Amino acid sequence: MRYGLFSDVHSNLEALQAVLTAMTKERVEKFFCLGDTIGYAANPNECLDLVRQLPAVAVAGNHDLAAVGHPILYELYDDAREAAEWTACHLTEENKNWIQGLPLVAQEEDATLVHGSLFEPEKFHYTDNPSKIEQNFSLMQTPFCFIGHSHFPWIIEETVGAGLKPAPTIVNQIIYRQGKKYLVNVGSVGQPRDGDVRASFCVWDSDRGRIELKRVEYDYKTTQRKILEAGLPARFAEKLETG
Ligand SMILES: [Fe+2]
Repeated sequence: MRYGLFSDVHSNLEALQAVLTAMTKERVEKFFCLGDTIGYAANPNECLDLVRQLPAVAVAGNHDLAAVGHPILYELYDDAREAAEWTACHLTEENKNWIQGLPLVAQEEDATLVHGSLFEPEKFHYTDNPSKIEQNFSLMQTPFCFIGHSHFPWIIEETVGAGLKPAPTIVNQIIYRQGKKYLVNVGSVGQPRDGDVRASFCVWDSDRGRIELKRVEYDYKTTQRKILEAGLPARFAEKLETG
């Protein structure tokens, strides 16, 4: 099976369309959405409508819940909260209901899906340092765990017995090994933060035993224009041109 994994679309329709086109070329058969489909940019309903029609398993992100009345809204910084409130005013009832039905964690065959961390998934911790990575590995009940949230893509193979801290191998593509555990951050479709403006996604080929992190260009100038025209915070437009 070829799985297409993506996260943190953040209402960026142009980036999502580019990723879905790229995944079609990659012959993806099933999709995993790791949350934060909305927040920041100006097309929340269009993005949710596209994700909902995919043969996909999806989990909730903090920005999804913030826009449907969850108190996590008040943990967002000012501009993010403003975008969440704008999004909440624009969401269709259908899309609100869909978000409210999303689980925090999902398990599908050999993979566990969660937005931020398997540790207290409802608190959306970042898995962004060796001890948190180690903690996440210790909570994994499956060989693979896919996450998003930090907008930094990477693949880490668990290293056991290598000292106090794991020594992660970070690469863009792996041929994985039986008996090992892998933690994969699929990056962000619609608001990359790693210095690369292209939309990020992941393809997992379970027959070939391969996981790849991929990037695709998209028309971010259109997304920027829409953000500014909607009156959303300008920083979300500016960030798209630096990544
Ligand atoms: Fe996010």
